[in-house]
Amino acid sequence: MAVSSIKYGEAVQKISSALLAKNFKGVELAELDAAVSHWLMNGRSKVPFLNQHQQKAANEIIYAIFGEGKISDVLRETAEQLSFKIDFSDIPFPPVKDPKFTFIDLFAGVGGIRLGFQQLGGECVFSSEWDEAAKKTYSLNFGEYPYGDITKIGEKLIPDHDILLAGFPCQAFSIAGYRKGFDDEKGRGNLFFDVYRIIKEKRPRAFMLENVKNLEGHDKGNTFKVITEYLQNAGYSVVSKVLNTKDYGGIPQNRERIFIVGFRDEVNWEKVQNPTSTSRFEWPKKKTLRKTIKDLLEVDVNDYYYYNRYDCYKQLKEVATSRDTVYQWRRVYVRENKNGVCPTLTANMGTGGHNVPLVLDSKDIRKLTPRECFRLQGFPEKYEFPKKMANSHLYKQAGNSVSTPVVKAVAEQILKAMDL
Ligand SMILES: C[S@@+](CC[C@H](N)C(=O)[O-])C[C@H]1O[C@@H](n2cnc3c(N)ncnc32)[C@H](O)[C@@H]1O
Repeated sequence: MAVSSIKYGEAVQKISSALLAKNFKGVELAELDAAVSHWLMNGRSKVPFLNQHQQKAANEIIYAIFGEGKISDVLRETAEQLSFKIDFSDIPFPPVKDPKFTFIDLFAGVGGIRLGFQQLGGECVFSSEWDEAAKKTYSLNFGEYPYGDITKIGEKLIPDHDILLAGFPCQAFSIAGYRKGFDDEKGRGNLFFDVYRIIKEKRPRAFMLENVKNLEGHDKGNTFKVITEYLQNAGYSVVSKVLNTKDYGGIPQNRERIFIVGFRDEVNWEKVQNPTSTSRFEWPKKKTLRKTIKDLLEVDVNDYYYYNRYDCYKQLKEVATSRDTVYQWRRVYVRENKNGVCPTLTANMGTGGHNVPLVLDSKDIRKLTPRECFRLQGFPEKYEFPKKMANSHLYKQAGNSVSTPVVKAVAEQILKAMDL
């Protein structure tokens, strides 16, 4: 019997009210949301996300969506078949139809890394992010509500996948002293080890980790050395490179990030390590930057963003004369970033003050809008912001994210090396 399709958003709403009416003992509501949305998104990937409690919830959901009259028919269907009946057209970035590969998205933020890999035909089978505001933006765009704190998620519960992705936060303490790693309380506290334990258990064919450039030099290089050793000892060939958005992403942002790429078996170890030989994995080639900040600015920007109400306005006006310069107010002086390239967007843009870079548009000097910050990270225009979300969250999310064209360029090379 044919089951009529239902728009994803509507399904989620019905599911939510069904869940609210139920009290699932031992299951946190947030994690239940994640389980349900993963199931709706990935049912067809044959990933049984549901434990006993979640299965029970899922049955309730089926009731909620399709009504009691049809339940016996629906229950006979597998999750795989059922997912085809969800109409994803209300999601800006719905799951791809015939995925070429699967991946997981750890420290997912607002999905900048996911975007690149999904655009190349990948299916995300698991995501984790603990910041509630970021989860909201993420689920609005991808439909999937990420699971929470990764340190509390057992590696065995994570579904199999081809590629593991993680823009893990760089914690400010050294891990070099913790070679024993997991036996050590402090070592265990470092989120790299969460990435590592998942790699070790799930043995993805490849991984891509992203971090700040300074990871390489942290603790005189020891931190990076330990990370690389762990990954190599887990049986991966590992390469890394610092890529700047302005050189590899075609976007006028000066953002240097380290990309660590590893392959299990797919690439000849020696070739990867020996720069003179032709390895199957190659870093993307540099592209000429053709855009400047001017090309990314919105028109008709709300008065709120203009700087004429601040004490520093007069001083800014004296300096700010070029539409192709990005300015920053630094307590007593104006820093200028000429050539139309924006300095690195950072998460502290969300803390207010004068942390958001400034531009001179056809009207006056003002700070960048959240949309412009997302553009500077390469997010497409159809990427949506939750309606009532405060700018502080959006700025933080943009600063915390990645430059999606750079990720996509690396992703293309990874897929090539994997013959995908
Ligand atoms: C550098 S950001 C990565 C952003 C992501 N690549 C993007 O495109 O938006 C690191 C993210 O890890 C999240 N995070 C930190 N600790 C976490 C934990 N224990 N479990 C899950 N997420 C965590 C933070 O909230 C933050 O969004």
